[in-house]
Amino acid sequence: MKISIKRGRAIEGMRTAGRVAAEVLRACREAVAPGVTTHDIEVVCLKTAHALGAESSTIGYCGFPGALCVSVNDEVIHGIPGPRIIRMGDIVSLDVTINIGGWHGDNAVTVAVGEVPPETQELLDVTQRALYAGIAAAKPGRHLSDISAAVEKVARDGHCGVVREFVGHGIGHSMHEEPQVANFGRPGRGPILEEGMTICIEPMFTRGSHKVEVLKDDWTVVTKDGLPAAHYEHTVLITATGAEILTPRADDAIWQC
Ligand code: MF3
Ligand code: CO
Ligand code: CO
Repeated sequence: MKISIKRGRAIEGMRTAGRVAAEVLRACREAVAPGVTTHDIEVVCLKTAHALGAESSTIGYCGFPGALCVSVNDEVIHGIPGPRIIRMGDIVSLDVTINIGGWHGDNAVTVAVGEVPPETQELLDVTQRALYAGIAAAKPGRHLSDISAAVEKVARDGHCGVVREFVGHGIGHSMHEEPQVANFGRPGRGPILEEGMTICIEPMFTRGSHKVEVLKDDWTVVTKDGLPAAHYEHTVLITATGAEILTPRADDAIWQC
């Protein structure tokens, strides 16, 4: 399938969707605290999205029951909001996707609740660094897999596992579009990046083995060895010179250098 190139109003639509997705994620992140349930975070997600004129893209997507994905500790992605109580020392991955005016914005962070062991904090730092390495590799004229290779190198250098079964993706009028953006692979492969493409780069790294399985709820992806996992994501627009982050966060600049 052809990768869509956005121009003019489409780019403005994607910029708005990205900013709103980032604002909803920020509100969800602030709601994370010991004693709070993952459902409480979902309520914040929905209220914030609605106040901004947006809808959750995930509710009902292939039957997914949540307004966002909340994945705790050994849960990698696609955790369903519910009665689980967040505790001190947990790491909580929040993945927010919204739709506004027919355009989607998608972003994720992993939040540490209080102090976590140094090896867990390092997992978060390495995964976040990999996201920005992927973004730095996203330039017009480069191959798609240059992003994948840049992400994978950070994982290797940081001794983290790379989840292979789930990948980043194109985004636009749908949450998931072509192409798939793997977090591993040799550079110089796949389509050439072009100005106007909008893609989601989303490393999912593990502290131990990269092997994952899906729980009986048919959604929650967990590490097989029970060790923690982290997930960071931005929606980006390929520009004439590089990539513009459409889902900006306050700490982007720190990680981009
Ligand atoms: N936001 C996820 C992504 O980054 C997709 C979630 S799909 C759901 O691609 F169905 F699990 F919500
Ligand atoms: Co996402
Ligand atoms: Co995504």
